[in-house]
Amino acid sequence: MTRYRYNTATTLDGFLADDTDSLDWLLKQDFDENGPGNFGAFMAGVGAQVMGATTYEWILDHEKGAWTYTAPTFVFTHRDLQPVAENITMVSGEPADHRQAIEAAAGEKDVWMVGGGDLAAAFQAAGMLDEVIVSIAPVTLGSGRPLLSAPLDLRLEECDRNGEFLVARYAVVGPLGSR
Ligand SMILES: NC(=O)c1ccc[n+]([C@@H]2O[C@H](COP(=O)([O-])OP(=O)(O)OC[C@H]3O[C@@H](n4cnc5c(N)ncnc54)[C@H](OP(=O)(O)O)[C@@H]3O)[C@@H](O)[C@H]2O)c1
Repeated sequence: MTRYRYNTATTLDGFLADDTDSLDWLLKQDFDENGPGNFGAFMAGVGAQVMGATTYEWILDHEKGAWTYTAPTFVFTHRDLQPVAENITMVSGEPADHRQAIEAAAGEKDVWMVGGGDLAAAFQAAGMLDEVIVSIAPVTLGSGRPLLSAPLDLRLEECDRNGEFLVARYAVVGPLGSR
């Protein structure tokens, strides 16, 4: 069974980015790339990734147009965005409409839900979200782009510290009230 894993950094008050899509609050933090919750270990299990258009455009801006991900990537957008690499597919509509293609692309590996929070909620509603893995920075923003805009019950599976981050892995149980 394909596992859908939402792995992201977040502020303590549950934001992926501020109101202007800035990650300055995140990029200034110390994080041990070989420590708990490190991305190398996670990415080794990733066969495909999915993200919303804002996240895609942020990556392109931040990487000055370069695309370094090797896994097939599905970008959700209503616009006519041009993929900058052959392994990027632009899609729209319901996550379930693309389930077969995403899972075929992932093969035996996991799907990384990169973000954002509304898309993660849509995937959960479609039964396509198994885990939420967060690296929680010691920051609050008060407002910004939501981590996960759905009321859910989760089960804490693991937690650890990496630098100033609290790293936690949760299993998605279901809509709030499932347990
Ligand atoms: N802290 C972290 O580690 C981390 C991780 C991930 C993301 N981020 C940041 O968090 C922010 C997230 O941005 P966001 O909240 O706007 O979320 P997003 O999911 O990145 O982008 C939302 C956009 O995706 C498109 N979209 C979403 N669902 C769709 C659907 N079902 N069909 C078609 N298009 C769909 C729409 O764009 P269109 O206008 O193209 O239709 C929508 O406005 C970004 O700034 C990103 O860089 C941070």
